[in-house]
Amino acid sequence: MKKKRFRTIDPFLQVENADKILDEVFQIAGEQKMNPFLLWGLCLGFVRDGGYIKGDNDLDIGVVCNGKRERQALAAILRKNGFTHGTPNRLHNIHFRKNKVLVDIYFLEAEGFYSSFDSVKYKGKIYSVPRPIEDFLTASYSNWKIKEKQTAKVRVVNQGQFWKIRSKKFNKLNWANDISYIKMFVRSGEFKESDIVLDVGTGTGIMAHAISSVVKKVIGIDVSQDMLDQCEEGDGNQYIKRDIRDSKFPDNVFDKVTARLVFHHIIDDTQKAMDECYRVLKNGGKIILAEGVPPTSKVRREYISIFKLKEERLTFTEEGLVNLMMKSGFKNIRVLQHITKNFSVNNWLENSGLMKEKQDKIFELHVKASDTFKKAYNMRITKDDCFIDIKNLVLVGEKREV
Ligand SMILES: C[S@@+](CC[C@H](N)C(=O)[O-])C[C@H]1O[C@@H](n2cnc3c(N)ncnc32)[C@H](O)[C@@H]1O
Repeated sequence: MKKKRFRTIDPFLQVENADKILDEVFQIAGEQKMNPFLLWGLCLGFVRDGGYIKGDNDLDIGVVCNGKRERQALAAILRKNGFTHGTPNRLHNIHFRKNKVLVDIYFLEAEGFYSSFDSVKYKGKIYSVPRPIEDFLTASYSNWKIKEKQTAKVRVVNQGQFWKIRSKKFNKLNWANDISYIKMFVRSGEFKESDIVLDVGTGTGIMAHAISSVVKKVIGIDVSQDMLDQCEEGDGNQYIKRDIRDSKFPDNVFDKVTARLVFHHIIDDTQKAMDECYRVLKNGGKIILAEGVPPTSKVRREYISIFKLKEERLTFTEEGLVNLMMKSGFKNIRVLQHITKNFSVNNWLENSGLMKEKQDKIFELHVKASDTFKKAYNMRITKDDCFIDIKNLVLVGEKREV
């Protein structure tokens, strides 16, 4: 039998109905003393635009919750009141639906932005929002005051500027030079002396340089000439300014393609970039790809909020990366893990090229992060620094055409 699909309509397109559902959830959660408040798109819309955002498909509502019992009690009351319960197994948030309105309820602990609340007025009524609201929105959406999305063209110009500033201190970053990470990456590649390697997004050539001693030739490409200008001269490698999405190399020429911490910067046409990696590889050739990921799914939101303040980027999951590779045709994909221990948040920020105020804000977001975040990152706070353990995934995939 065909599964019946439940259609929902964006709140922006059915304001009265959405208002009713919003108030109903607030009333029920309020009666349970769970301090309901507006979150994400709903919060941004009410604070910035005075209403729902066009294209936002749900009502994001946070409630302060101390555990499973409270979560279950609220879910039961909502069900009693006609809310259908879409995803009962999720701990962090649950989707409910009523009258074609999708409601996403987040169960959060009373800490950080949710330990006390600011408020916003909408149609004469007062709704709670995280506090301090401007900091919360900046942490979540960076340039939240600007409505339009950046076009790909504007992004290219901005990224050029971003890497120009970053290039000056990139080689001082501890993580980039972490020898155990570099060694693990090189080991994963199972390089041969005869290999010709393309290092995508080579940056200042740290990884290309490390690989060059075990292979025949490395060609490093990067969109930023400023980054390439910091590459060590005379290491026998060739460094070319080029975008992987328009790599211009012929088909089937490389034995290995490497890309460490590059793909999260390729926001537009990400799949095309991966397709190019596949195309330029010889049959039987391999890609070695590394990306940082949130240590657990529970801290993904906080991870996104913090990184949004730093740069515009993609946040990957293991499945997302595997899918990206599979869609381009890669087979026999192996996923390995490397933990960068004792990552100094200060070293990272001081060499990030960010303005001092942003550095301070990001540092503060770490120190004031939720306990869940601190635990997941094994965070140690000292007098003048904060140390965390970072999770990196290294994925190896093969081009095998029959
Ligand atoms: C975080 S750095 C990593 C550098 C180097 N892979 C490493 O691990 O030390 C990311 C680099 O990717 C480059 N990049 C971003 N988008 C790119 C694209 N579409 N094609 C080529 N390089 C790109 C940036 O210019 C930057 O130098």
